[in-house]
Amino acid sequence: MIVLGIETSCDECSAAVVRDGHEIMSNVIATQIELHKPYQGVVPELASRLHTEWIQQVVEAALAQAGITRNDLDAVAVTSRPGLLGSLLVGVSFAKCYASALSIPFIGIDHIRAHLYASQIENPLEYPYLGVLVSGGHTVICRVEGYDDVTVLGTTIDDAIGEAFDKVAKFYDLGFPGGVVIDRLSQKGDPTAFLFPGPSLDESHRFDMSYSGLKTAVINQKDRFRRPDAEDTPENLAASFQRQAVGILMKRVRLALKETGLKRISAGGGVAANSLLRSELKALEKSGYTVTFPSLKLCTDNGAMVAGLGYRYLKDGITSDAHLSATARVTAFKKK
Ligand code: KG4
Ligand code: ZN
Repeated sequence: MIVLGIETSCDECSAAVVRDGHEIMSNVIATQIELHKPYQGVVPELASRLHTEWIQQVVEAALAQAGITRNDLDAVAVTSRPGLLGSLLVGVSFAKCYASALSIPFIGIDHIRAHLYASQIENPLEYPYLGVLVSGGHTVICRVEGYDDVTVLGTTIDDAIGEAFDKVAKFYDLGFPGGVVIDRLSQKGDPTAFLFPGPSLDESHRFDMSYSGLKTAVINQKDRFRRPDAEDTPENLAASFQRQAVGILMKRVRLALKETGLKRISAGGGVAANSLLRSELKALEKSGYTVTFPSLKLCTDNGAMVAGLGYRYLKDGITSDAHLSATARVTAFKKK
């Protein structure tokens, strides 16, 4: 079965064609990065306008690159939640019309589940596993028992991890998108030049995280945390911030592995492209865990993860009706 996946939840306008949930026939990502760069952040109104202008061409390019026509499609899957409402609405409206015109099913997809599914496309991992979803909007540690069966164990109580990367980079004018720039600068920095504090949350928040304290320390009080002999350079600052941002997450990941007894781990989302996080997760393999994450292109927002997950629902006979609309907020997750 061939599924068209459409992703417009934030600033990437993407469409992909995936066969049987794992064979990526095309994955076109039209990025708006250059257009949001002057503002050093995503401007929601601009993002939705650009999606409206681009979506048709992006879908046509995805079909052409896959070497198929629209009549070969078996379903259209689209991210319907969560994300920027205006951006989501463009994708959802387009997908609904497209599917209806072709008389094929339309499937609304949850963005968080799609990110978690991304590594399943390339490296299928047996359920259950510990899911680590880290992006610009979400920071979630969860127990994943099936493509739709996700129980949240811990989440951020304030900023998302990617948001912290982006805000630190914006404040120091390092470049956009912040995560990529900080990752690159960190390669040349001393991660112990600044010893930033981590959050101390009470027992009821055992698996939860907080990034606003770290962000504030880096932005407002960096000198307090600098080793006296260390230089105050962007590279040292980036490496020290990154070390603690990843450290906060890894501490909860280790605790969750210990307490759940899960032996497999899979990460997803834009921050799963981070080199330090990837190496720290990979290092868990020495302790007997199986670790997977998507290739870099499938970490950040893309249509292939939406099409791939769409296939799973389609195969199980689960489709959406024409009344489904976009929802900005996270909904429908089991809690531990
Ligand atoms: O998954 P994604 O494309 O969009 C959301 O669902 O939010 O993630 C975007 C986030 C941004 O915050 C970006 O700075 C971050 O992923 N990011 C990274 C890296 N590449 C992208 N953060 C740290 N290191 C990276 N290499
Ligand atoms: Zn995302």
